[in-house]
Amino acid sequence: MTGEAGIVVVGAGQAGFQVAASLREGGYRGALALVGDEAALPYQRPPLSKAYLAGKTDAEGLALRPASFFADHGIARHVASPAAAIDRDGRRLLLADGTALPYAHLILATGARNRPLPVPGADLAGVHQIRGLADADALKAALGEAERIVVVGAGFIGLEFAAVAAGRGLAVTVVEAAGRPMARAVSQETAAFFRGAQEAMGVRFAFAAGVTEILGSGGRVRAVALADGRTLPADLVVVGIGVLPNAELAAAAGLPAGDGVRVDAFLATPDPAVSAIGDCARFPSPFAHGLPGDGTVRIESVQNAIDQGRCLAARLAGRPAAYAALPWFWSDQGPHKLQIAGLSAPGDAAVVRGGEAAFSVFRFRDGRLSAVESIDRAGDHMVARRLLAAGTPLTPEQAADPRLDLKALAMGRP
Ligand code: FAD
Ligand code: NAI
Repeated sequence: MTGEAGIVVVGAGQAGFQVAASLREGGYRGALALVGDEAALPYQRPPLSKAYLAGKTDAEGLALRPASFFADHGIARHVASPAAAIDRDGRRLLLADGTALPYAHLILATGARNRPLPVPGADLAGVHQIRGLADADALKAALGEAERIVVVGAGFIGLEFAAVAAGRGLAVTVVEAAGRPMARAVSQETAAFFRGAQEAMGVRFAFAAGVTEILGSGGRVRAVALADGRTLPADLVVVGIGVLPNAELAAAAGLPAGDGVRVDAFLATPDPAVSAIGDCARFPSPFAHGLPGDGTVRIESVQNAIDQGRCLAARLAGRPAAYAALPWFWSDQGPHKLQIAGLSAPGDAAVVRGGEAAFSVFRFRDGRLSAVESIDRAGDHMVARRLLAAGTPLTPEQAADPRLDLKALAMGRP
């Protein structure tokens, strides 16, 4: 066993980096270890399906901090070191290489992994995914050789990648199980806009379509077979069909973990020495009112990873507060920027403000504003964040009235 029992963070991604940095910023002086299974310095994932893939930024530009930051702040990095088990009775984290790290507090920030496509041929050469830097590097190299691309899944990864590939003049077809793009996250109106925008970039779609097999020859992909009998020729396939939380470490240690590691409003598991944050954590959210389920959510976004890292660091420094940050995020697709504030459900009502080229969709659940989707309207997004965070009452009729000055309302000026 090595060293003083301090705080050990498992997962050196967005949330793990943030909680470690915020602990030091908040004055924590004890031992602090950041355990990650990747080789790179903690980095930002969003550019992997956008600027990095398009060659507009390099790996150095992705790093959240240079190596010197960790040395200067006394954060011990365990690199390419998967954690294998938690010994809760002995308060030790066991690494796959046999190292045992004692902890006074353990933070699970293990993120999520991409859901595998459960069909024959999914392991052929030429079938890619995007979660980490290594995936993006492999895909970037393959893009140079590709001519015909099939993307499985019209979610955020699929659409952002499709926009980059179409921008390079490649033939792209996106196969989606649902009837529209981003069905999990946005309204019909927003989905229709992005379908049109993608088609204008040259992307083709197959909606309500199922992949039955990926066909190959000589170990390489050559086509994608659909349930309706169609065969789409392809020399490159990108699968983006959602994620699964990395909750197995917690579950194996007897902590509650269904779709994510279960934590309370303070991001604590039932074991007072273990907390969880980021993509892997399922927590009660004040913004989940009226959503199907038990009032808990798991949010896959940079904002959530950062704000939960900060919230937990504050608690461990003796300033506990329930996590209540407003969820928001963005997606860049070709020339268009989508920004979302709040949490919507597919059945939420929709009120559109703005014109055809740039507009916002105000979503309402049980008569309350639940979320706002802004397309190329950054000003609306900032106003929406204020309105939602403050819980400012807004009716669908008010949202529909173009004369209503929303900014004034958000600033508390009637
Ligand atoms: P991660 O950043 O995934 O970090 C978890 C880390 O833990 C990983 O390094 C993982 O390998 C490691 N790990 C897992 N298990 C173990 C173990 N047993 N031992 C050691 N280490 C382990 N969000 C947005 O808001 N906007 C965007 O535009 C956006 N774009 C994205 C584009 C892509 C291609 C991807 C993949 C994600 C994107 N996201 C975006 C989502 C965002 O990046 C994630 O929500 C965020 O990274 C979550 O942070 P995290 O720390 O919880 O997980
Ligand atoms: P997603 O959940 O956004 O979208 C998955 C899509 O795949 C859905 O539209 C779903 O209907 C479809 N699908 C599921 N199974 C299918 C099947 N068998 N065949 C065809 N379609 C199928 O997940 P995505 O796009 O994979 O993103 C993964 C993760 O990366 C998420 O955590 C996401 O939040 C994150 N991400 C976020 C971005 C952003 O916020 N801008 C950008 C890129 C990724």
